[in-house]
Amino acid sequence: MKYSAIKKDLFIDNRKNYSKHLKPNSLALFVSNDILPTNADGALGFVQNSDLFYLTGVDQEDTILMIFPDVKDGKHKEVLFIKETSELIAIWEGAKLTKAQATEVSGIEHIYWHHEFEKTFKTFAFQAENFYLNSNEHTRRYIDMETAEMRFNKKIKKQYPLHRIERSAPIMHRTRSIKHPIEIDLMQQACDITEKGFRRLLSFTKPGVMEYEIEAELIHEFVRNRSRGFAYGPIIASGGNACVLHYVENNKPCKDGDVILLDVAAEYANYASDMTRAIPVNGKFSKRQREVYDAVLRVMKGATNMLKIGNTFEKYNLAVGDLMTQELLQLGLIKSEDVKNQNPAWPAYKKYFMHGTSHFIGLDVHDVGFFAEPMQAGMAFTVEPGIYIPEENLGIRLENNIIITSSGNDDLMKNIPLEADEIEALMNA
Ligand code: GLY
Ligand code: MN
Ligand code: MN
Repeated sequence: MKYSAIKKDLFIDNRKNYSKHLKPNSLALFVSNDILPTNADGALGFVQNSDLFYLTGVDQEDTILMIFPDVKDGKHKEVLFIKETSELIAIWEGAKLTKAQATEVSGIEHIYWHHEFEKTFKTFAFQAENFYLNSNEHTRRYIDMETAEMRFNKKIKKQYPLHRIERSAPIMHRTRSIKHPIEIDLMQQACDITEKGFRRLLSFTKPGVMEYEIEAELIHEFVRNRSRGFAYGPIIASGGNACVLHYVENNKPCKDGDVILLDVAAEYANYASDMTRAIPVNGKFSKRQREVYDAVLRVMKGATNMLKIGNTFEKYNLAVGDLMTQELLQLGLIKSEDVKNQNPAWPAYKKYFMHGTSHFIGLDVHDVGFFAEPMQAGMAFTVEPGIYIPEENLGIRLENNIIITSSGNDDLMKNIPLEADEIEALMNA
C-alpha cells in the first residue's frame, strides 16, 4: 500500500457504530474481495471490499471479519481471519500481515488464519441466532458475476440453513454516510492530491496536446503523492466530446479554441475524491464559453449553499433545477414557453443538464447513503452541475466535494482553482 498508516481508532469506532444496530444474539460476517483475473496468469490490481475496509483497515485478500457482541465467552466479540503468511508467500507475493500487524492495523485482538475459519466458526455459529450477511445493495448496481461475497453468503446459508439471515447493507449505508473525522482527513488528502494534479495540468495544457497526455500528467502526479491512481475512470473530453457524459477514450487532440472538460480525481487510502473542471485549451475562454462557465459556476455556488443539515434531496433537486432554468433562459438555450409547457417529470432544463447534481462520496465514488432522508452533519456529497451544448461543441461541468457541518458545510476542494479568471491566470503564468 502506498498510503501512510491510518489510525486504528477509525476502524474501532466504525465497528462500535455498526454493532449498535445488531439485534440481540447476532453475529455479522464480512469478507474481502477477490483478486480478479484478467487473462493467462494476469490479474487486476486488488481493490478491497469497502465495507470490510471500513470495519478493519485490512487491505488484503482472504480476510474475514466476524462481529459477535453477545458472544458467550465475552472475548471473541471481534475476530479477524487473515491469509496465513509464510516465507514463500513473502518471496513471491510480498509481505502479508502478521497476526500482530493485523491487530495493529485493525485494533482487533483475536486473529486467526483464513484456513481456520470453517472449524473456528462452528462454535460461534452454534451460539448465535441471527447471521448478518453483507451484500452490495447500491441502488445503481446490478452485478452479473458471482463476487467473493456472494460465494461466501451462499456457503454460509447452505451450511447453516436454520439460522435467521439479516442484512448488513442498510446498517452500512447508514454508518458509512456519516464520516468520521479521520475519514474526512483522508478525503481531504485525496482532494489535495487531486489539486496537485490539476495545477500541474494547467501549466501543461496547450493547443495540440492529446487528451491522454493530460491523463499521463495526472497519473504521474497522483502516484508520486501516494495515491493508487484515479478514483474512477478519468474523463478528459475536449470540445464536443464533453457532451458524451461517460467519455473515457481520452484519445483526441485538444484543439485551439475548444474547452476541455476534466472529470479527474485521485484516490487516497481507498477514499475517493471526485473533481470536474473545464479549462480553455488555449488559456483563454471565448465570450460565449465564459458566459456558460459562469452560469454553471453560479448554479454550483447556489447548490453548495443548500447542502446543509435538514435539507432534503427532493427540495434540493427542485431548487437546483430552478437555478439552472434561470441560467439557461439567460443563455438563450431555452425559452420561457419551454418552461411554461414543461413536463414536471422531465423539466426543460434537462435538455442541457440531464444528470443529478449530487451523490454521496467516501470510500466509493458513488458512496452509500439514504437519499430519501434529510441531510445530516458529517455527510459528504459532490456538487456537480453542468451545461452540455453539442451544437456549440461545448460541455461544462464543475464539481467539488462538500462535507456537511453543524454550521453549514465545508468544501474539501476550496483550494482547487475554480474561478475562470484564476484558471486563465494560471494557464498563462
Ligand atoms: N466522476 C463520476 C461522477 O462525477 O459522478
Ligand atoms: Mn466526477
Ligand atoms: Mn461525481
